[in-house]
Amino acid sequence: MASSAAVGAHEPESPQSPDPIFEPLQFRNLTVKNRLFRSNIAGRFDNYDGSGNPLRYNWELKFARGGVGAIISSFVPVSAEGRIVPNYATIEHDDRIPFWRELGRRVHEHDCRFIMQLSHSGRQRDIVGFDQPIGLAPTDDPDDVNGLHANRMTTEQIAGLVQKFAQGARRAREAGLDGVELHSANGYLFTQFLSSAINDRDDEYGGALENRARFLLEVIGAVRAEVGDDFHFQSKLSAVDYNNAVFPWQARGNTIEDTVQVARWAEQAGIDAVHVSAGSMFPHPRNPAGTFPVETAARTYSALLGSGIYTLRNYLIFRTPGLREVFKWAWERTVPELDEIEGLNLDNARRIKEAVSVPVICTGGFQTASVIRRALEDQVCDGVSMARTLVANNDLPNLFAAGHEQAPRPCTYCNKCLVNTPANPLGCYEESRFSTRQEMIDQILSVYRPSAV
Ligand SMILES: Cc1cc2nc3c(=O)[nH]c(=O)nc-3n(C[C@H](O)[C@H](O)[C@H](O)COP(=O)(O)O)c2cc1C
Ligand code: SF4
Repeated sequence: MASSAAVGAHEPESPQSPDPIFEPLQFRNLTVKNRLFRSNIAGRFDNYDGSGNPLRYNWELKFARGGVGAIISSFVPVSAEGRIVPNYATIEHDDRIPFWRELGRRVHEHDCRFIMQLSHSGRQRDIVGFDQPIGLAPTDDPDDVNGLHANRMTTEQIAGLVQKFAQGARRAREAGLDGVELHSANGYLFTQFLSSAINDRDDEYGGALENRARFLLEVIGAVRAEVGDDFHFQSKLSAVDYNNAVFPWQARGNTIEDTVQVARWAEQAGIDAVHVSAGSMFPHPRNPAGTFPVETAARTYSALLGSGIYTLRNYLIFRTPGLREVFKWAWERTVPELDEIEGLNLDNARRIKEAVSVPVICTGGFQTASVIRRALEDQVCDGVSMARTLVANNDLPNLFAAGHEQAPRPCTYCNKCLVNTPANPLGCYEESRFSTRQEMIDQILSVYRPSAV
């Protein structure tokens, strides 16, 4: 339930005009009507084979109607073996283009832009489809969360994947979308190359930072060559790996200094913006930052049981009173206090913004107009992206535009939405935010209602 302070805080204010939140953001190849981006998030709304399902239209339109300037899509695999779970729409073939074209058309009707996140899981997956038993990664080591195996890629396979990203970008452009983002953050394929804690190669793709960045820079070059110089293209980067946040005996991984250098190289290679995140895996205590609802995980994690070498261990931990409290403690040990979650990546965004000349978008907990306004006025970043905070309040941008400081019932960062995703539709599962349980259920299931289209 929203605190009384927060309830008071949502009263309309009269911000001085013009409000920086509603100033258009001009990228080199794209103009967005305000500084608010829907950050990457979606449930398993699509078909098993990676073809799109109109449920995704319903989902994305909630945010377009709510007033964000642009939607950055969820994880869109450029090839089938790069899926994190089945039932996520891919961009692996030309026959996927019409689905995305229709999605873009519907989103555009609300004066909202649509940027596709081109992605590959590498070793970090959740539910392994029957047709993708083994992943491709820079390393043979399993991921730390679920323990899913992948095969170390050969240089020929790396070259093939570079081209798959370029073709994914071409398809996004042909679909009339407004840009593409590389999911080069949060433990997925690009992080596995970039991170000094994960990349154990001894060829030209491993070792020194310039070698670990080679795959990312090759993909940036190939995408730019394929889509031309006039198409928006950005990269999401984990500013800091914090790789030892949960397992203190592990290496720390990349520092902000490493990522500042990577961002500089990425800009030189042709990106138009940097989207700043954190963490060498997903989920991570700092992304999405908040509590870890182990009681919910005890019910939903079973969907992953057949997956990795650690899933049974994790499941037993979540199911065992005492052990799950230990896990919760270990996970939340390095999570910022609840009142520090909003804008937790801003210091790192500032460091990156000082190093590049392209706009910087920052993610992490944003849901208060004055916090966002201050970050923009202080030139810490040029825009903010919001995921859970918009799942909780789809119309938050419209509330800001009407002068509200916060939504009446802000997101509590409880992460029940996250932990429900393996088994249940994506939506807000924080019952205390709703008058009745039925109201919460209706909100979650609203994505299935044709009238929502
Ligand atoms: C359920 C869920 C799914 C997410 N999926 C993605 C994703 O596909 N790609 C990505 O880059 N980030 C993903 N994220 C991270 C969000 O985009 C966002 O950066 C992060 O949650 C911090 O923002 P927030 O505090 O507003 O939620 C996901 C987060 C959640 C909770
Ligand atoms: S379940 Fe709702 S309140 Fe909790 S983190 Fe997700 S969106 Fe926020």
